[in-house]
Amino acid sequence: MNDQTSKTVLVTGSNRGIGLEFIKQYGERGWDVIATCRNPDNALKLKAIVKDHSNVRIVAADITDSASIDQLSDQLDGEPIDVLINNAAYLGPPEPQKFGQIDYEMFARSFEVNAIGPIRITEKLIENIRLGETKKIIFLGSAAGSIAQIAPPVTLYSYRASKAALHLAVHNFYHEMLSENVIVSLINPGLVDTRGFLELKPDDPIPEELSKIVPETLIRMIQEGKIPMITTYESVIKMLSYIDELTIDTEPLFVNCDGAPMPW
Ligand SMILES: NC(=O)c1ccc[n+]([C@@H]2O[C@H](COP(=O)([O-])OP(=O)(O)OC[C@H]3O[C@@H](n4cnc5c(N)ncnc54)[C@H](OP(=O)(O)O)[C@@H]3O)[C@@H](O)[C@H]2O)c1
Repeated sequence: MNDQTSKTVLVTGSNRGIGLEFIKQYGERGWDVIATCRNPDNALKLKAIVKDHSNVRIVAADITDSASIDQLSDQLDGEPIDVLINNAAYLGPPEPQKFGQIDYEMFARSFEVNAIGPIRITEKLIENIRLGETKKIIFLGSAAGSIAQIAPPVTLYSYRASKAALHLAVHNFYHEMLSENVIVSLINPGLVDTRGFLELKPDDPIPEELSKIVPETLIRMIQEGKIPMITTYESVIKMLSYIDELTIDTEPLFVNCDGAPMPW
């Protein structure tokens, strides 16, 4: 589907997972797509998209590196951005996020990427957004960062705390932007399969590469169907339709990918 617009979207962390799917879907729509990632040379899936879509370009951006963000901002000087999608994040392995064995370098890294990075890049690109027609800034939050939703088993100290910090910063920013009609939204994409969990049958042993990413207790619950996962396609198609409909009056700020309100 090509919706014949000349709108521009920029997505961070777009070389894999949900970010890559945003690029695919906006690319298919015919938007001007700025796909940012840390290492464009290694972004093979993005390069494959660019081959068939002249409207998609890849630009380097590490959201924790102010020199990298300055360079991006210089490259885009004077270019309107209609939709900025702050997608990049760092989950990290679960073991060093358990109380008693916390890795504090990793804790700090989670904050650098998940809480500070999205604000850092948004601050640098705000003039581009002001030049845009639709002026939408999207942050990918997480149910894992919802204080209201915490229930045992508690997991992921650094990821969860950094996402909760992001949520607060976005709430601040939302109020700040209202007066100039810049639309801010915080979206939980759902529990999205970016690593192949949906291929696991109920009795399959848990592969090590998966237990390194997500606590085994959660993987078991996914296997048993107690926690339903969705594909990147399903999540992004819902988010796109929600983002299309966003206006300055849309409430609440924090929602699930289908627009259902999320508890803080
Ligand atoms: N998947 C889920 O179930 C789920 C649930 C709730 C919320 N979310 C949120 O949705 C978003 C996307 O999640 P995902 O599952 O697609 O994540 P993912 O598969 O782990 O991908 C993360 C992306 O962020 C990039 N990234 C990491 N550090 C970066 C940095 N310093 N600068 C720029 N890019 C960086 C990664 O690039 P490299 O390849 O270079 O590392 C990668 O492209 C995240 O904000 C996540 O917290 C996801």
